[in-house]
Amino acid sequence: MELLKKLCEAHGVPGREEAVRTLVVSELKKICDEIRTDALGNVIALKKGSGRGPKVMLAAHMDEIGFLVSHIDEKSGFLRIDPVGGFDPRVLMAQRVIVHTEKGDLIGIIGSKPPHILTEEERKKPLELKDLFIDLGLPAEEVKKRVNIGDFITLQQDFAEVGNLVSCKALDDRVGVYVMIEAVRRTKKHVCDIYAVATTQEEVGVRGARVSSFNVAPDIGVALDVTVASDVPGVGEHEQVTKLGAGVAIKIKDSLSISNPKLVRTMRQIAEQKKIKYQLEILPRGGTDAGAIQMTREGVAAITLSIPTRYLHSVVEAAHKDDIQAAIDLLATFLEVAHESDYSL
Ligand code: CO
Ligand code: ZN
Repeated sequence: MELLKKLCEAHGVPGREEAVRTLVVSELKKICDEIRTDALGNVIALKKGSGRGPKVMLAAHMDEIGFLVSHIDEKSGFLRIDPVGGFDPRVLMAQRVIVHTEKGDLIGIIGSKPPHILTEEERKKPLELKDLFIDLGLPAEEVKKRVNIGDFITLQQDFAEVGNLVSCKALDDRVGVYVMIEAVRRTKKHVCDIYAVATTQEEVGVRGARVSSFNVAPDIGVALDVTVASDVPGVGEHEQVTKLGAGVAIKIKDSLSISNPKLVRTMRQIAEQKKIKYQLEILPRGGTDAGAIQMTREGVAAITLSIPTRYLHSVVEAAHKDDIQAAIDLLATFLEVAHESDYSL
């Protein structure tokens, strides 16, 4: 869990994944045969197989949702922000952020008008990003000296174990990166060449996966990402998508991809044979790197293994430790037997 904590607490929005990348490269270097980085910042690590099997590409995204500084108020020094990825403005109120500048990090406060002075009208309106600003507690002159338009901003939150759960910002998708690294670490006997790819810019439209997948040209693609777990009070059983503690989720469909049915079947069979807890997932809205991988070149058999996560796209994202372990177990076993099945339709 120490590695998961480090990954979650590292900061990097789409296009600015450098701190996470450094961490990922140092881990993958120890367990892979070759490693390289492409022009979009994707990390592509190869762990060579023992024979001739299909090329398997794993993908987990390093970026987290956040903001770029879009404006500095001339008089007050308050910052306005442009989103890179989709935070719900409701979860942003009253949070602390880190503004990452060339001259170092600054702590900021996400401010808004206090409820005391809101009119009846304003109170009824849903909160929008344009209502929020960042307060650095510094005079405008000082802010202008230290902050540039385009500097990136992430939410400040530390990693915590909460009962059987782990909770932090950016579990989406650092937990996927963690699962990928741990599964590759564990896989010893495998025929397939395994490409472990830590992708960039997923949150703004699976951009890193698109180019890295073209480069790798895999036969099989497996994305590792979080998915919605709405197993909370007030949500009907049929709307929960997944449940925490009920195992790794084998994705059937989301709005970017329909998983290869033979990959779904193989994953289920492995889980049943090895007694790994799993659930089947259909996500009405959202997508993963699998959406980009399956559309590569002449098409790729792709699937996503998901880690059920509550409070997605907030700073208290929470996942169950057993589900994370189940994801590692299923992926590691799959890598050892992936060459035994045929995934052509
Ligand atoms: Co996300
Ligand atoms: Zn994600």
